[in-house]
Amino acid sequence: MDLSTDIAGMKIKNPLLPAAGPLTGDDVKMKYIASLGVGAMVTKTISTEAAKVPRPCIVATNNYVVNAELWSEYGPDKWINEFLPNIQNLKIPKIISIGYSKEQIEWLVPRLKDFGDAFEISTHYVGKDLKPIAEVAKLASKISQKPVFMKISPHMPDPVEFAKIVMDAGADGIVAVNSLGPAYYVDPKTGISPLGSENRYGWISGPVIKPLALSIVQRIRQELDIPIIGVGGIKSAEDIVEFLEVGACAVGMLSSALIFGKAQYTRVINRLESALISRGYVSVKDAVGKKLEVKHARFDLNNPKVDPEKCTLCKLCEHVCPYFAIKVSDHVEVDPNACFGCGLCESRCPTKAISGVLINEL
Ligand SMILES: Cc1cc2nc3c(=O)[nH]c(=O)nc-3n(C[C@H](O)[C@H](O)[C@H](O)COP(=O)(O)O)c2cc1C
Repeated sequence: MDLSTDIAGMKIKNPLLPAAGPLTGDDVKMKYIASLGVGAMVTKTISTEAAKVPRPCIVATNNYVVNAELWSEYGPDKWINEFLPNIQNLKIPKIISIGYSKEQIEWLVPRLKDFGDAFEISTHYVGKDLKPIAEVAKLASKISQKPVFMKISPHMPDPVEFAKIVMDAGADGIVAVNSLGPAYYVDPKTGISPLGSENRYGWISGPVIKPLALSIVQRIRQELDIPIIGVGGIKSAEDIVEFLEVGACAVGMLSSALIFGKAQYTRVINRLESALISRGYVSVKDAVGKKLEVKHARFDLNNPKVDPEKCTLCKLCEHVCPYFAIKVSDHVEVDPNACFGCGLCESRCPTKAISGVLINEL
């Protein structure tokens, strides 16, 4: 199957990229991540100064990461003289992530542009005012003569407006999204924060932010037919398909590789073909934008129907029902006067024995 895609004219062999972060923080790490089969490289964000990263700086659970990293802990000299020259042999496109202000971008782009195929510009620490962000997009696109992708953070109040303004200014696409914050994590047993940052704040990412990231990609793509790299919470090939369906032409993943290990990149790529086939697609490009129009479940009051063959009488439906409408004895009984048709039981049933509440409109 053809897993290739293109982002603003850049051809890539498959749609999975490493999102900017520690796994692409130097040449050795980037070569290793490339060997796992990703479609393109994205560097950790480079700025005009090395970041003074507080330590410890990463804590993870099974479905999220909270991090207090800033940008690259190496200054631009190290990138220009060592890391970027050393990855020139990689046979995949290289996207150089940079930040943040107009002055910093003006200094960085001429020095870095010959090492990469495109730039990704982080807007994480520049506030919510779109005017300076648009100026950065305009400047970077003018002086780089390469595709420029502006990366949006989820705290941006109007993602569609962000996308319109940066595209009008000359950007070639959007990366959506960065991590969300500030977030606070304290070890419940010790009451101690595992992060060394001021106030112990960090930024949250990983599977828990996937619905938020999907909604930002979908909202932008419904309004604008532009290249979007979808990032946020991807952990499986099925997740990639969901991002493609709401209009992303490629995706980035980081936290799941931090939670489950770096081999997650290879695992996800290897499963992509079967994930696409099971949703009826013949290629990656075929899936892009296929679910931009969201179908609603019908809002008729439908009581849950229970399949006794599948039901194990585990009682989870009774315990979770917010309308106290379900009683389980030797069978499941639904009180039609109490049932609100909310759909929670159907989504929580571990054996998929409940159906009938959610009926998708055709
Ligand atoms: C430890 C860590 C470091 C990160 N560093 C950067 C960075 O340097 N530049 C950037 O644009 N995003 C950075 N991010 C954000 C990720 O690139 C990504 O946008 C976000 O984590 C959501 O994707 P995920 O859920 O797959 O991790 C970082 C995230 C983490 C967890």
